[in-house]
Amino acid sequence: MSDCENFSVPAELEAEADKRITHYPENKRSAVLPLLHLIQHHFGFISEPAVKWVAAKLDLEPIKVLEVVTFYPGFRQEAPGKFHIRVCRTLSCAMGGSYELMDKLCELTGIDRSKTSHSNPIAVSPCGNFSVEFAECLASCGTAPVCMVNDDFHEAITDDKAADLLKQYKNDNQ
Ligand code: FES
Repeated sequence: MSDCENFSVPAELEAEADKRITHYPENKRSAVLPLLHLIQHHFGFISEPAVKWVAAKLDLEPIKVLEVVTFYPGFRQEAPGKFHIRVCRTLSCAMGGSYELMDKLCELTGIDRSKTSHSNPIAVSPCGNFSVEFAECLASCGTAPVCMVNDDFHEAITDDKAADLLKQYKNDNQ
């Protein structure tokens, strides 16, 4: 296990990170994206200590890693809720009602999206159980609007189905 300012990385994760770095023998810096994906997949988000850990691994200044994190909206700097909902906002889904779906999900969970931004795309419910984020095309345009809850895919989720969708996960939570 490796520590970086109280940030602990399990040995298996570090071994995987080391393996991925070897894929870029010419320039370790190219491993920034794969390492960030590994970290986010494991921890759910990329914290400041995680940025420093990746930077140390790749002999980079932390600001160089942070630039990558803030450039790609797919990287999260805040912990998501237990159930993270990604709502597609690309054309078919937008026309099918994905913005209305997002509004309804926020209304039902008490989520305030007013502070979201390009570099901070997620918002979390006060209870911490749910979080939301807009996503780009999830490759199921014919069944718009679509969303994902963690790794589960849901099709044709219009805003009138939002309550049932959430209920499914509230029940899972008990
Ligand atoms: S536009 Fe939403 S899945 Fe393609």
